[in-house]
Amino acid sequence: MSQTRHVPVMLQRCLDLLAPALEAPGPQAPVVVDCTLGLGGHSEALLSAFPSVRLIALDRDKEALRLSGERLAPYGDRATLVHAVYDELPEVLDRLGTPKVQGVLFDLGVSSMQLDEADRGFAYAQDAPLDMRMDQTTGIGAAEVLNTYPPGELVRILRAYGEEKQAKRIVSAIVREREKEPFSNSARLVELIRDSLPQAAKRTGGNPAKRTFQALRIEVNGELTVLERAIPAAVRSLAVGGRIAVLSYHSLEDRLVKQVFAAGAATTAPPGLPVVPERYQPRLKLLTRGAELPTEEEVAENRRAAPARLRGAQRIREEER
Ligand SMILES: C[S@@+](CC[C@H](N)C(=O)[O-])C[C@H]1O[C@@H](n2cnc3c(N)ncnc32)[C@H](O)[C@@H]1O
Repeated sequence: MSQTRHVPVMLQRCLDLLAPALEAPGPQAPVVVDCTLGLGGHSEALLSAFPSVRLIALDRDKEALRLSGERLAPYGDRATLVHAVYDELPEVLDRLGTPKVQGVLFDLGVSSMQLDEADRGFAYAQDAPLDMRMDQTTGIGAAEVLNTYPPGELVRILRAYGEEKQAKRIVSAIVREREKEPFSNSARLVELIRDSLPQAAKRTGGNPAKRTFQALRIEVNGELTVLERAIPAAVRSLAVGGRIAVLSYHSLEDRLVKQVFAAGAATTAPPGLPVVPERYQPRLKLLTRGAELPTEEEVAENRRAAPARLRGAQRIREEER
């Protein structure tokens, strides 16, 4: 396993954001949920930095759970690892008898392990079967999306999830090619995208296949749909005083997090009330001004941190509305 796999992004800042909620004295051990366990980098740091916390960690990838299980074994029953999609958080917490928690962390996107394992098909730099499922036990892979979706649907996905301006051009080429032979591997798709784009489009933004791969990955894993349910659910699961930190890696994720936090931090009172009743008061306080970025030093040491955007919020009031 290479060293680069293990560098958790914006780690100290995540710990600092959550610390006041995990260090506060109380009758019971504080509970922190890592909704995206991955290789357990953030989880291990949470267990080690806050010796009284109990960790509940979720991942939809069984291989990630297996590897992290070994890594976190020294922490014994302080860590509970669960195979779940993170929008199942309320059910998982109910099952474990901890409906309210003091901290929640999301480190979104693909893990370095998923990217490094060529046969999972996430990376456009290596030829591999077009799979891209984070949970390989369920759902359809990227090849099936490419081979079976109607052209209009593919264009919509490339535009919405990849912010790909050349979506129509790329999809026309895909449809032409899949009629000759269905797609199975990534190299053929990468080559096709490169060949179908005009020179000018190829000069900007790195590998021309990057946006299409991102779009397929988001579609295959239903990432935004799940996130749209998961962030509000996570906010609802916070006890008063509890804190949430979310690391996003593209603007679609970050926009969604920003909207949920902003809505929670705003009053919902009808305009013109002389005194705002309790039930209309904000239930969140923002802990970050806008999205925080990794330092240049961190990006120089860990290029996977480059696109990261971190937002944090604190629960300041019960849900009363
Ligand atoms: C960027 S990695 C987390 C890395 C981790 N923080 C570390 O330090 O090792 C994201 C992980 O979240 C998982 N994941 C992504 N979407 C998920 C979802 N909807 N539900 C559960 N896990 C998910 C992926 O399988 C992946 O292992």
